[in-house]
This record gives sequence, structure tokens and C-alpha cells, in this order.
Amino acid sequence: MTTELAPAPAPLAAPVPRPRIFSGIQPSGVVHLGNDLGAVRNYVRLQYEYEAIYSIVDYHALTSTHDPAALRTQTREMAASLLALGLDPDRCTLFVQSHRPEVTELAWLLTTVTPVSWLERTPTYKEKKEHQQDDVNHGLLAYPVLQAADIVIYKASLVPVGKDQAAHLELSREIVRAFNARYGQTFPEPKAVYTEAPTVLGTDGVRKMSKSVGNTIDVLGPPELIKKQIMSMVTDTQRVLRTDPGRPEVCNVCQLQRAFGDDYESLWDGERTARTGCVDMKRILAERITERYAEARDRYANLMAHPDRIDEILAVGAERIRPIAEATMIEVREKMGLR
Ligand code: TYM
Repeated sequence: MTTELAPAPAPLAAPVPRPRIFSGIQPSGVVHLGNDLGAVRNYVRLQYEYEAIYSIVDYHALTSTHDPAALRTQTREMAASLLALGLDPDRCTLFVQSHRPEVTELAWLLTTVTPVSWLERTPTYKEKKEHQQDDVNHGLLAYPVLQAADIVIYKASLVPVGKDQAAHLELSREIVRAFNARYGQTFPEPKAVYTEAPTVLGTDGVRKMSKSVGNTIDVLGPPELIKKQIMSMVTDTQRVLRTDPGRPEVCNVCQLQRAFGDDYESLWDGERTARTGCVDMKRILAERITERYAEARDRYANLMAHPDRIDEILAVGAERIRPIAEATMIEVREKMGLR
């Protein structure tokens, strides 16, 4: 009798390392629609394809926020928001910037390859100088250097962000080029990855949606708040009478419909022919946004009721990436002659 031997098992293939991505978000409290459409939905999508590292950038926040209790609360709210929107701590790393303080050392080292003129021409620095005239601190000027350090300490090559971060990303690339030219190839040049809605306008229909402007739609807030914010939105200012035809391409409410259903063309048609009015459009948008974020809203409330769970996820995240940050710092110190 012959016995058939089972074929020897194939040797286990070594796991293929996934390219690394990084992004940062300020601890501005609960996320708003602009954060989600402009960046966070890419954080969620990309965690399945890449080795993803996401940071809540509390060092950056100190350039504008000086209330310690508020900073702590908002850091937790932002963490809970990101987890509620779909970041999975088993698939990506979520941590608080100041829990991996090596980045401040790298930021200092990078300042020595960064001409001051590059920083002075940064659009956000110019804006902030106007905005907080009695608090033009050094951190505001050095902000993009710390942002470059955030990315390159993990040698990330892709950075999911909204369009408002384009100038910062370009500066990060210039800093990387300057460093590599002086000390030898060390860091990859990071590239921005955008969503289909890289700039989301606020309820005023003019400026970028932003907490500091106060024109947000707080998607994880109570439905009544969402409704109130949407009903207050500025639409097509040339449409005065209900019977005037609308122009969906300039109406912010219509533009936002694109992200909440495939039928936006037919909704737009109703606007163009004045079959529907702005109030109808707002009502539809409010219903859709409330419904789309219903589960995330529950998850957010649940996480906020268990702050220890949030803190544990953040602590594990910071520990998980410690070896990457430490290895980069050993390499950089060596290359710069510090050891
Ligand atoms: P922050 O906290 O202002 O915004 C977080 C992310 O949300 C995007 N975003 C928007 N996108 C479209 N429309 C909007 N209205 C809108 N508002 C916010 C932002 O583009 C961003 O992607 N400097 C950064 C934080 C940062 C960072 C980094 C980012 C620090 N280090 C390293 C990338 C890599 C900031 O203040 O984002």
C-alpha cells in the first residue's frame, strides 16, 4: 500500500512592508465637516492600504491656545472623533504629538537648514500675524518646521491633507531637499494626497470651514445643532426670489450635496429650474448629514463616556512608533556630527 505524502507547506512569505503615510490634526475639539471631507475620510481609507500614523498635534496648538485645561479636553475630543469616524487602532497608529517628544529635537535640527525667508513667506504665518497681533510668538514662525519634522521622523512619503496644507507640504519638501543636500539622502520628499473635496467652505459660503472662524458644521454634534448650522448657510446670493433660477455651481449647499448622495445632479436640476428653493436644499442636506453621521455620533458619545479607553489607545500608539522615531534620531544625529 502506498501512502501519499501531503506536499510540504510553502515557506511563509515575509510580510511585505507597506509604504508609510503620516498626517496631523490640531486638537481643536470635535471634528467638523471640513476636517472629515477634506482629510479624515482619507485617513480612514488609507489605513487599509498603508502603514498609517496619525498625530493629534498639541505642540502645534500651543502657538494659538494657551488654556491647559481646554487643550487637554480638546485633545481627547479629537481622539474620540477620529476613532468614531473609523480610525481603527489595530490598523493604524493614533497618538498625541507631545507623547513622542523626539520630534521637537528634530524640529530644532531642521531649523538649521531652513532659511527664515521661507518661513516668513508662508501664507498661514502671514494670516496668523494678522489674526493674533498681540501674540506673534516664535512658534508661529517655526510651525511649518515642526510639521516637516512630524512627517519625516517617520520617513512618511504620503500625507493625506486638505488643500489649505499645500504650502506647508511644499515647504516640508524644500526642507527635506535642503537637509538631504547638506547631509546626504536621509528623508523621502513627502507628497500630499487630497480627497474629492480638498477645500470645504464654511456656512458663510466664503471662507474655509474652520473652528477659529466659527463657520463649521459639527457633524458629531446634536442633530438640532447640525440643522441650525445648515439652515443658517449662505447660498447663491444672486437668487433673491424663490422663483429665481439657482446656480448650483456657486451655491455651497449644493456643492456639499455632492458628498451626500449620487442624486445631486437631479437636485441641482431642481435648483436651476426653480422647482426647489434653497430651504428645501438645506433641509435635504441637514437630513442626510444627520443620518450619515448617526452611528459615528453614538460611537463618539460612547468613547467620551470611557476616557480611559481613549487614553489607552493613545498611549499604545505613542509606544508603538517609539522605535521608528528613535532610529531616525540616531541616524540624524550621526549624520549631523552630534555623536
Ligand atoms: P488642521 O488641524 O487645521 O486640519 C486637519 C486636517 O483637516 C483639513 N481641513 C480641511 N480640509 C478641507 N476643507 C476645510 N475647510 C478644512 N479644514 C481642515 C486640513 O487640511 C488638515 O488636513 N498644520 C496642520 C496639522 C499638522 C499636520 C502635520 C498635517 C501638523 N503636522 C503633518 C499634516 C502633516 C493643521 O493645522 O491641520
